[in-house]
Amino acid sequence: MGAFILFLCLLAPFVILACALSAKKRRSSSSSSGGKGSLPLPPGTMGWPYVGETTQLYSSKNPNVFFARKRNKYGPIFKTHILGCPCVMVSSPEAAKFVLVTQAHLFKPTFPASKERMLGRQAIFFQQGDYHAHLRRLVSRAFSPDSIRGSVPAIEAIALRSLRSWDGLQVNTFQEMKTYALNVALLSIFGDEEMQYIEELKQCYLRLEKGYNSMPVNLPGTLFHKAMKARKRLGAIVAHIMSARREQERGNDLLGSFMDGKEALTDEQIADNAIGVIFAARDTTASVITWMVKFLGDNPAVLKAVTEEQAAIAREKELSGEPLSWADTRRMRMTGRVIQETMRVASILSFTFREAVEDVEYQGYLIPKGWKVLPLFRNIHHNPDHFPSPEKFDPSRFEVAPKPNTFMPFGNGNHSCPGNELAKLEMLVFCHHLTTKYRWSTSKSESGVQFGPFALPINGLPMTFTRKDDSA
Ligand code: HEM
Repeated sequence: MGAFILFLCLLAPFVILACALSAKKRRSSSSSSGGKGSLPLPPGTMGWPYVGETTQLYSSKNPNVFFARKRNKYGPIFKTHILGCPCVMVSSPEAAKFVLVTQAHLFKPTFPASKERMLGRQAIFFQQGDYHAHLRRLVSRAFSPDSIRGSVPAIEAIALRSLRSWDGLQVNTFQEMKTYALNVALLSIFGDEEMQYIEELKQCYLRLEKGYNSMPVNLPGTLFHKAMKARKRLGAIVAHIMSARREQERGNDLLGSFMDGKEALTDEQIADNAIGVIFAARDTTASVITWMVKFLGDNPAVLKAVTEEQAAIAREKELSGEPLSWADTRRMRMTGRVIQETMRVASILSFTFREAVEDVEYQGYLIPKGWKVLPLFRNIHHNPDHFPSPEKFDPSRFEVAPKPNTFMPFGNGNHSCPGNELAKLEMLVFCHHLTTKYRWSTSKSESGVQFGPFALPINGLPMTFTRKDDSA
């Protein structure tokens, strides 16, 4: 959390200046828009000029406390002013659906320009309209159940390799899970035949990641500059992989989907999106698995039920001599509920950002053009009206399907997560081997949450994993 706050504090003056200038431009253009201009703004406070309520948000140790306090005071839609940007926060299922699904064309994705430069301007997250729909088709095809079902043995091999490498050691669970998630992401993007390039690709990606949250100052020696250099090299490595691929048949992986026939993307579009998908896949999945390990460790009855479910499948596999299959993962119902409840309680993506592309009316309120709009996933997932005793970890609540739009760990609408089936698959496969072969102990003294930017157990959850047959 400390590093995150430090980063925001360093960034704040630049962001505030940029937002203040664009707010000035917006004020002069929206005064002529008429029509909806007479509607009231949502309730809430905007804080100090320019700075807004940024200090209140970041002086609370946990940003969710700030959002919850506002929601209790003003209701499910309220205005505020953060990092120089006027914002409307929405925390009811209906309002989130309005922004992300039914009126999604009125709200565009929004990211700082430096992030777009670093990931690649043609990456899927930043797009709308026809190009976005084209990318979605190609990405969804590569991550559909039909495309990924054959990758279970390869994912299993990656999970086993990870677990073996930590045997008996104290590890930082999150860091280790990042390695697992990166290896699975690379497999799903490039297949398993590009090994000669993969090591260098990983090293460059790690350099890019180091500079991702740094000050966007592109001068020699800065982390940002090193990251931009690594980004350039990554583009060149992806180009090598593409030219090798042109000699072969199209694979079932993401690269194959991007390079396929009439729908094929340009080389630059492919590089931006391959790198973008690594980015989307890695820390998200690693954070959720880290929380799952923690919740299982903290809830022995749940761990027992999951272990029994997985041990029954493992026994069958041993008798038949067959490897774990896609069909087996569909039978992991208890484990599936644990994953759902982990994603609800942890809500690693507390919210997402959109920007109103015109003046929008919602329930008699005005959302002015240019304002940021933040659907607050975590507040929705922690609303006691939909999830009684919301702080309690209780996977049995998912024995009944949640009400529509109350549970959105993978977002909603046309930017929702196209990698969700792969993410669930890699979590199920990992959990199968973790619970049947290993025991682990958490340091109880270390409880707490850090944000970096995803919610994580404090210090990445230091943990010792030991093989069950060694310690029995
Ligand atoms: C448990 C792990 C994951 C979680 C919780 C998660 C969550 C999300 C969420 C909430 C969004 C929507 C963001 C928004 O609307 O602004 C999203 C988008 C996305 N995710 Fe995931 N994700 C996960 C894993 C993955 C994986 C494994 C992949 C790919 C292999 C992936 C690829 C993407 C992509 C490409 C987008 C952008 C889609 C678009 O803009 O059209 N994610 N993810």
